[in-house]
Amino acid sequence: MTELPDLDSTGLAPFDAIVVGGHDVVDTPLAKRAEDLVAGGVVPAALLEPVRAELDRTEQRLRPGLGTRGSDGPAAGGQRADVERLVRDIEEFAAGVDRVVVVDVSSTEQPHDAGADGASYAALEAAWDAGRAPLAASSVYACAALLAGCGYVAFTPSPGIDVPALRELADRRGLPYAGRDGKTGETLVKSALAPMFATRALAVRSWTSINLLGGGDGATLADPAAASSKTQAKRSGLDAMIGHPVDGPMHIDYVDDLGDWKTAWDHVRFDGFLGTRMTLQFTWQGCDSTLAAPLVLDLARLVGRAQDVGESGVLDALGFFFKSPLDSDEHRLAQQWEALTAWSARCAERARS
Ligand SMILES: NC(=O)c1ccc[n+]([C@@H]2O[C@H](COP(=O)([O-])OP(=O)(O)OC[C@H]3O[C@@H](n4cnc5c(N)ncnc54)[C@H](O)[C@@H]3O)[C@@H](O)[C@H]2O)c1
Repeated sequence: MTELPDLDSTGLAPFDAIVVGGHDVVDTPLAKRAEDLVAGGVVPAALLEPVRAELDRTEQRLRPGLGTRGSDGPAAGGQRADVERLVRDIEEFAAGVDRVVVVDVSSTEQPHDAGADGASYAALEAAWDAGRAPLAASSVYACAALLAGCGYVAFTPSPGIDVPALRELADRRGLPYAGRDGKTGETLVKSALAPMFATRALAVRSWTSINLLGGGDGATLADPAAASSKTQAKRSGLDAMIGHPVDGPMHIDYVDDLGDWKTAWDHVRFDGFLGTRMTLQFTWQGCDSTLAAPLVLDLARLVGRAQDVGESGVLDALGFFFKSPLDSDEHRLAQQWEALTAWSARCAERARS
């Protein structure tokens, strides 16, 4: 996307200069994961050999992560030490590159409230001093990213940076961040279609969404607690785009057999002139990994340049990429695109000067 003519690419890191490292809680080799993607029909088999050596080099840059999939985070008492360890890992990685952007693409966590301990950075430090561990794992990573001086992207609906203490830290350090929860599939379609109903004054009476998915994300979301983060994120924009609360359930169901593919079926009931009943239905069949991966690269490039040109705080112009844009009620795709292109042009101009 960042190579489209409407998005000035001046100052963006070239794709072949991007270096990937990270943390994970499993140690399945990346080459094995790539083989699984080939076996699942996600990427062509012919791609595997040309990237095998790069995958092996990337493997050397992976470090053990925190907690387990979907957990609330580490045991009480160790959170400051965990943050410090992650900061060291990031700084070691940073020594070999010009700029680091940290992107959270780990399993969705359940909603988590850090409470009074997360109300300010001073309160957070006091909680750590008292041996408490108020942050979810995703927020521990976000904290480490900020302390290491990195821009940050929340690609998941997990709490991450959305804790007052961490936002304060980002502001204090003048760091840019964006989130949250990548808008890659059914919600993307919704954000293009819902404004059409609103601007044609077609009265939407109900909007039902059924999502069937497999893969690691599907397995995580089989846990109702983790799924509630996702359904909140997926629902958040519809009422705002239509202009009033819209009836209708939203389901996410795990179907192992679907692997990396997701099928969404949406049923939209609306009224035309004089209350004539009408229906729109659409079916979306998307491959989640290949929808998400290019956005992660685009976001890393955009946030990296934002930091280069001195942008800080929440990058609300990046709302185009997210289901629940931080600090923005704008979910309409066309308006988000306009905001993105205008902001991109401003950043490119500053990168040139
Ligand atoms: N289209 C998409 O793929 C898409 C769109 C929007 C949001 N997301 C979000 O991106 C995230 C990843 O999606 P996915 O399909 O790649 O899921 P996945 O289950 O395939 O991958 C998640 C990875 O995170 C790792 N992980 C779990 N806990 C961790 C921790 N504490 N520290 C470090 N790593 C940890 C897992 O081991 C796994 O490798 C999910 O939160 C998902 O909701 C994905």
